[in-house]
Amino acid sequence: MSVGTRAKKPLLRVLGGDMRWPPPLWLMRQAGRYLPEYRALRAKAASFLDFCFTPELAVEAALQPIRRFGFDGAILFSDILVVPHALGQSVRFAEGHGPLLQPIRSAGDMDRLSAEGFLVRLAPVFETLRHLSAALPAETALIGFAGAPWTVASYMIEGAGGTDFLNARRMAYETPDLFARLIDLLVESTIDYLSAQIMAGAEALQIFDSWSGALAEPERRRWSLEPLTLITRRLKALHPQLPIILFPRGAGLLYGDFARQSGAAALSLDSGLPLDWAAGELQPHLALQGNLDPVLLLTGGEALDREADRILEILGRGPFVFNLGHGILPETPIAHVERLVERLRQAKS
Ligand code: CP3
Repeated sequence: MSVGTRAKKPLLRVLGGDMRWPPPLWLMRQAGRYLPEYRALRAKAASFLDFCFTPELAVEAALQPIRRFGFDGAILFSDILVVPHALGQSVRFAEGHGPLLQPIRSAGDMDRLSAEGFLVRLAPVFETLRHLSAALPAETALIGFAGAPWTVASYMIEGAGGTDFLNARRMAYETPDLFARLIDLLVESTIDYLSAQIMAGAEALQIFDSWSGALAEPERRRWSLEPLTLITRRLKALHPQLPIILFPRGAGLLYGDFARQSGAAALSLDSGLPLDWAAGELQPHLALQGNLDPVLLLTGGEALDREADRILEILGRGPFVFNLGHGILPETPIAHVERLVERLRQAKS
């Protein structure tokens, strides 16, 4: 993509270190069940993975929130668990239960994973990106994504979400070499996967370490900060202009090390981080994104307005992308999203 085209996209400008007023906006999980048009589209596929791997449906799902709200970024419609699926693990999404995987608990289980044919199995994702890249409005940036090694490994080991991660955290302490083998495989696969997303048209990348906060210190440094730093540095060597957003949710003070060391263009903040601290300690190093509590978007009203204003006031003075602290909840009323978008667009500096 030429420099001229990129320069017109507010989100890419901010990820490059510029300040924009009002700040660009997109929302994590902006495509999804809170939209009636998403639910209608979802009904056309037999399973959630089929849905993700049917470019025609995935392109439409990613475009729906752009049409409705005119967000500054469109995120690829897929899931972080397509990576274990493409490595040969059995992955399915049970209605009302979230993801279910055949758990990996031993060296033998790990031997059955294979990187052979990995990118071929993910070909529909790249096709989705190529179509999206052609279909988006000129000012909308295309965001690719992947899960971070620790977060993806935790699902691979537990076999489900919403647990206390006991099996994954035990494996890291009891058989660190075995655990490191899985993390290394995910580091290499994630670099290949994200690199291929860039070749297919992604203009920025976000890496979701949704469960970084479940790790003890110094495990968080070893299994969240280190692999993400490695992935970021290797991708930057291959694609120097491509901005990477890291989301180490719940990483607390370790956000400081992410800001200073990881090489990311931006950090996405969870709702628990004090904003003054983030503005003082993180924003001098890189752009910030976040961090409205998704529950406020669900409840709406003046509390939503006040908190959106407070975030703007504290983080809007530097390079900043407005977003949530985690994904939109399925019960969120569309009117609240409209209210937020309107308020941000009209914000006075
Ligand atoms: O707009 C977007 O952001 C769409 C793309 C997207 C999805 N999942 C679609 C999805 C993205 C970026 C994700 C990331 C993802 N997936 C994460 C990291 C972000 C986070 O929320 O922490 C994680 C941990 C997953 C794993 C996952 N996928 C879970 C735990 C679930 C079940 C819970 C739920 O919300 O249902 C999913 C399913 C999923 N991924 C849905 C969507 C729209 C809902 C499934 C459906 O519509 O049937």
